[in-house]
Amino acid sequence: MKETVIKKFEELFGADALLYTSPGRINLIGEHTDYNGGFVFPGAVDKGIVAAIRLNGTDRVRAYACDLGESSEFGLTEEDKPAESWARYIFGVCREIQKRGGVIGGFDTTFAGDVPLGAGMSSSAALESTYAFALNDLYNCGIDKFELARIGQATEHNYCGVNCGIMDQFASVFGKKGCLMRLDCRSMEYAYFPFDPKGYRLVLVDSRVKHELVGSPYNDRRASCERVAKVLGQEFLRGATMEQLDAIKGQISEEDYKRARYVIGEERRVLDVCEALERGDYETVGKRMYETHWGMSKDYEVSCEELDFLATVAQECGVTGSRIMGGGFGGCTINLVKDELYDGFIAMAKERFNARYGHEPKIYDVVISDGSRRLE
Ligand code: GLA
Repeated sequence: MKETVIKKFEELFGADALLYTSPGRINLIGEHTDYNGGFVFPGAVDKGIVAAIRLNGTDRVRAYACDLGESSEFGLTEEDKPAESWARYIFGVCREIQKRGGVIGGFDTTFAGDVPLGAGMSSSAALESTYAFALNDLYNCGIDKFELARIGQATEHNYCGVNCGIMDQFASVFGKKGCLMRLDCRSMEYAYFPFDPKGYRLVLVDSRVKHELVGSPYNDRRASCERVAKVLGQEFLRGATMEQLDAIKGQISEEDYKRARYVIGEERRVLDVCEALERGDYETVGKRMYETHWGMSKDYEVSCEELDFLATVAQECGVTGSRIMGGGFGGCTINLVKDELYDGFIAMAKERFNARYGHEPKIYDVVISDGSRRLE
């Protein structure tokens, strides 16, 4: 990727670009908890976005997306919103930096990525974090890392139509090699957890059903949670109990009830997983992962047939834990697999999925890696 972006940059704009990168992410557990003020457990991966950037002394941005072979040029005022959806991520980041008092100007840039698109691994957060980190560095804006993550999140809200939580951008900016991170999305306290489960591997199985969070289904889930929290008289669903939820059952819709039930259960599961990890009890971690999967499928209704099939195949192969990862509606399952079961599981998942859906899933071994940074 480095070579690709540099070569294209030189071709289009000349020499002396600096290189920046930010990763995609996995999430062990804690799904749809971030915007409920709950806990998440992500880690950055070894796949991401690489961008070559050089300031151009004008007030215009000239950008080229190597993977799409498309270019876009735009200014930095609110009226300049570009037509290309990929360029809106870069534009949004610029605008959000400016809204925070950052003084920035135009630049030339090329970028490429290897986070599979629509696989639930946050390719968009990787793109936002790359430019937030780079522009902060190049223009000495003095914005701290949490605010860089919020700039990416606000870009999603204000320029891309997804009312996402903070998990993806946080993971992309704060990632650390070999460590998962537990983030409390209410207090924003976080801790690094070295993750090296002896005898187990983490692997993603990508259904290649493209997930699209843009539009209503994701935002609808969030709205349900906010409605229920309001009836409970709380800012967030975080901290609510099943008893409290049952007590207001008559005042909310059946759908909102089920969604809130999932979130309340998920909060408990994340805490369980933290304790289990401290004991090295991966069997419990795995059990909770399956519970999350079926909660997301039956109660939160963000799974799809293909992902339910993959989780079922995993269970039948004796895989310790398997679940849909990320926002849902397609993408990957994340699987915690014993070393000795790994080969058999992968072969079986490919074979059975292919027989049923006519294509093999893609397999990505998880390598937990560093967050946003400048490359030499
Ligand atoms: C998407 C969002 C995140 C989070 C997850 C679900 O990835 O961007 O903020 O809500 O879905 O856990």
